[in-house]
Amino acid sequence: MTTKPFRMDGVTVVTHPLVRHKLSIMRAKDTSTARFRDLLREISTLLCYEVTRDLPLEDYPVETPVGPTTGQRIAGKKMVFVPILRAGLGLVEGMLELVPSARVGHIGLYREPVTLDAVEYYFRAPEDVAERLCVVIDPMLATGNTAVAAIERLKERGVTNLRFVCLVASPEGLERLRGWHPDVPIWTAAVDERLNDHGYIVPGLGDAGDRLFGTR
Ligand code: URA
Repeated sequence: MTTKPFRMDGVTVVTHPLVRHKLSIMRAKDTSTARFRDLLREISTLLCYEVTRDLPLEDYPVETPVGPTTGQRIAGKKMVFVPILRAGLGLVEGMLELVPSARVGHIGLYREPVTLDAVEYYFRAPEDVAERLCVVIDPMLATGNTAVAAIERLKERGVTNLRFVCLVASPEGLERLRGWHPDVPIWTAAVDERLNDHGYIVPGLGDAGDRLFGTR
């Protein structure tokens, strides 16, 4: 894992000490499924805090017990979190804790084991998704194929306001996603060294879906 500061236009690496601490425990191969799941939820809340940092606000009148004041609320339509199934599900609960009014869309994509291409098997999003800010979430940005395909799918539905959040990214995945969708900013907790021949991130944390659901 690189500890050098990573800089790429449109990429924010969230280096908060709590995120680093929790992610390091998640990486360890003997961390249990239950602990992995809890930590992913906790980190997702911290990532959500960062990805929503610049949301526009609007003023509105508030009556306190003492008198009137001006409150502020997030302007515009409720945002949509779009987890890429299945590992993306592990980030949804923590994000909804912070933004309970958000809508949730789902996109099912798997990596074809030989070509590593993204194959879609499920898509469901709010009808008016095109009018909302969509935050696409997946713990691992590896080859970038699934992220590119998920964002393409949302753009086909007319979405223009998109962000991508992951936990661990490879330099290759970041290059690919930024290359295909330069309009979509990315937030990640770490940028690792590289991909291996199987498209896994090194050192990474293994298969995020398997570790989250205890399937291997
Ligand atoms: N998906 C994962 O779960 N882990 C990787 O390292 C790459 C893709």
